[in-house]
Order: sequence, then C-alpha cells, then structure tokens
Amino acid sequence: MSAAFDRARIDARLVETTLGRHRIAVVLGTGWSDAVTELTGGSSSPKVRFCDIAGFTAPQVPGHAGTLQSVDVAGRDVLVVAGRTHLYEGSSPDAVVHAVRVAVLAGAEVVVITNAAGSLRHEIGPGHVVAISDQINLTGCSPLTGWDPADESATIPPAPSGFVDLTDLYTADRRAALQRRVPDLPEGVYAGVRGPQFETPAEIRALRTVGADLVGMSTVLEGIAAAHAGAEVVGLSLVTNLAAGLTRSIDHDSILEVGAQSTERLAEALEAVILDG
Ligand code: HPA
Repeated sequence: MSAAFDRARIDARLVETTLGRHRIAVVLGTGWSDAVTELTGGSSSPKVRFCDIAGFTAPQVPGHAGTLQSVDVAGRDVLVVAGRTHLYEGSSPDAVVHAVRVAVLAGAEVVVITNAAGSLRHEIGPGHVVAISDQINLTGCSPLTGWDPADESATIPPAPSGFVDLTDLYTADRRAALQRRVPDLPEGVYAGVRGPQFETPAEIRALRTVGADLVGMSTVLEGIAAAHAGAEVVGLSLVTNLAAGLTRSIDHDSILEVGAQSTERLAEALEAVILDG
C-alpha cells in the first residue's frame, strides 16, 4: 500500500513537471474522448502516454487511449486522463486508481470521473447522461486495503485512517450546481461490478432491488481513492445500453457507437462541471 502511494507521489511530481498543476482532473471513460475535443478551445499540451510513466498500467480495451494531457477545456486548464485500466484486465485496485491518486497529488481538488454504463431504468435509455448520486461497490475490493495510517503524506490533507466517510461522495453541492446548468440532467446510483462479462437478467433484477440505477465496470474504486486523497468527486455516466433483461442483447461495439453519437450531450455536461470547478 505504501509502495503504491510512493509510486503515486513520484508520478505526481513527473506530471507536475511535464504538464503543470491542475485544479480539475477529468477521467475519460468509454465514449467520452470526443466531448473533450469538442470543448477544447485554446492550447493543449503534448500527450504523455501511460506506458511512458513507470507507475501507470496501459489499458487494453478498445476506446481507452491511456494518455495524460493538459487541455484548455471551456477556458480552464484541465488534466485529462484518457483511458483507464480495469479490474477485469487483471489490474490490482492500486493500479486501477493510480491515475486518480496521481491527479490529486498533482493538485486536483476536483476529480470528474466519467464512464459508460448500462441503465436499469427504461426511461433513461441509450444516449442519456446521468449524474452519479451515489455508488454501490460490488467489486469485492477496496483501494484502501492495507492503508498505512503512518503514511501521512498520501493525502491532502492527510486522512487520519482508511475509514474514509463516503456519506457525500458525489457531493450534493456540485450535483445541484450541475443541475442548475443542465436542468434536465437525471441522477442515479451507480453499481460497480468486476466484469468483464455483462450481467445476467437475474443479476440486474437483484441490482434494482438493492437500489441501483446504473451498472458498470469502473468508477467505484476511483471514487473511493479520490475522496480518500481529499478531492471532491463528480461522476457522470453515459448510458450506452439498457441493462440485461431490459433489452434483447448487449455488445461492446454498440456501446462504442452510442458514445460516438452522444458527443454533444457529453460535452454539455462536461462543460457544466468544468465551469463549476
Ligand atoms: N453492464 C456493465 N457495464 C457496462 C454496461 C452494462 O450493461 N454497459 C456499459 N458498461
């Protein structure tokens, strides 16, 4: 655990030196890259590839680039993390949250986590953007396992323990501000699963019963790590499909297609978050 934070601190220094400090970081999930391109006004830095920084794990999945870049988005300098690695690739929880930890240690006070998700609600179909209001971590693991309370410099300000309070993980204030800018933006509870298989209809019925509105294979560990590191967290899901049992079938190519068709809506939501940041 301490080794993971040591590595994050080293990589944060490298990111600060090459890209500068950023108050806001955005992690781009499946389908979200074009939204940033749409919003980029002025300058952007060269891209730094995950594979060129020792602590990062390059993503394997189509649609996940694996780069860091400083981008002028809607007139603000934003650290854009394009692509992520997942538990289902065999990555450890520490590897999954590494980019988020680095972003916070390199100055990010707000971390915007985006993803593609299946919807458990018929009325929120493919193409909708949803503000994540809360999460259910069903991955069976935590990025804080093995937290070393003596490791005081791992968070800003130092967290007293790994027992981090997640009562207001996706802060209500930020969601309210976001909904003032995008009034019809729905909210939902995101259930994070390990994957890589999509769920069965019975699993989706079970998830509905426990209070989920969205399901996906990312985000929950990053949310925990960002909050633990001291950042405010905003979560945005692009609904790419109705969840299993609510639709005839699900496939990854259609998920990428919905992403490509939803750029304008994603850009609108992202711009609103960044203007509030
Ligand atoms: N299930 C899990 N992850 C997903 C889905 C889904 O239906 N859609 C996009 N990511």
